[in-house]
Amino acid sequence: MRIDLMAGASLAPAAFRGAPEPTILVFDSGLGGLTVLDAVRRARPDARYIYAGDDAAFPYGRLGEATLVARVLTVMEQLVATHRPDLVVIACNTASTLVLPALRQRFATPFVGVVPPIKPAAEATRSGLVSLLATPGTVARSYTHNLIATYAGSCAVTLVGSPNLAGFAEAELAGTPVDDATLAAEIAPCFVAEPDGRRTDVVCLACTHYPLLLPRLEALAPWPVAWIDPAPAIARRVVQLIGGAPRDAARDASVHGAFTAGTCLTAPLRASLAARGIGEIAVEALPLPMQ
Ligand code: DGL
Repeated sequence: MRIDLMAGASLAPAAFRGAPEPTILVFDSGLGGLTVLDAVRRARPDARYIYAGDDAAFPYGRLGEATLVARVLTVMEQLVATHRPDLVVIACNTASTLVLPALRQRFATPFVGVVPPIKPAAEATRSGLVSLLATPGTVARSYTHNLIATYAGSCAVTLVGSPNLAGFAEAELAGTPVDDATLAAEIAPCFVAEPDGRRTDVVCLACTHYPLLLPRLEALAPWPVAWIDPAPAIARRVVQLIGGAPRDAARDASVHGAFTAGTCLTAPLRASLAARGIGEIAVEALPLPMQ
């Protein structure tokens, strides 16, 4: 199986590369993709953006693989038809580690995925003890296991599948943060100390929600580690595919938000989203069928 760290798209059509003001759709199950959106916007501030959250099906980490593939294809069908993006970023490890081949087969649009940053983690560790913090879905994927075998063969990788952390990140953004003890307990399994004195020194943030909690994770860690966030690498991949912003390009257009349920959209969350440039939000309803 070919492994591409950024699960990058095949090159975009030549006519598209360098086109002014491309439309980029950034997609996640909920709010985690905002961490990727921020990095991509910094790299292409002139582009038009749609941020789409499938909150009707959140969290993806609990969905079975066949259900998740079908769900993402259905939602993408609607999003592509409505917004006609030039490029889509699947800003979700849980989806990207599973659904990219089916998306590329179904749509002509180029897709960039976000997958666990195992390679930079293996390059950064000194102790050889790396932890991968992700949803239970991402931790179980054969894609993830293949990444580890390919890039981190010489490391001891601890897989930590967190059932709650993505929800905690959403709560943080909505102004209802969980307490320190709860958060510390959720990340505790990432921190391994061996009898020979070696300790985990790198933690992969393999769910796009987790960087939303980074300042708190740093404060609660039992010892300092390097937290690897793949967002900057994803932004570089987008620029590689579509080119950089023209020098005289307009900057910082506002982002259109689209959610499939909208039940998460409380007033404090709307204020958080507005502070991140998402002032205009539509509910493009697509309920998750009964499981
Ligand atoms: N943000 C998503 C990821 O990167 C997943 C959160 C979820 O829906 O479980 O994996």
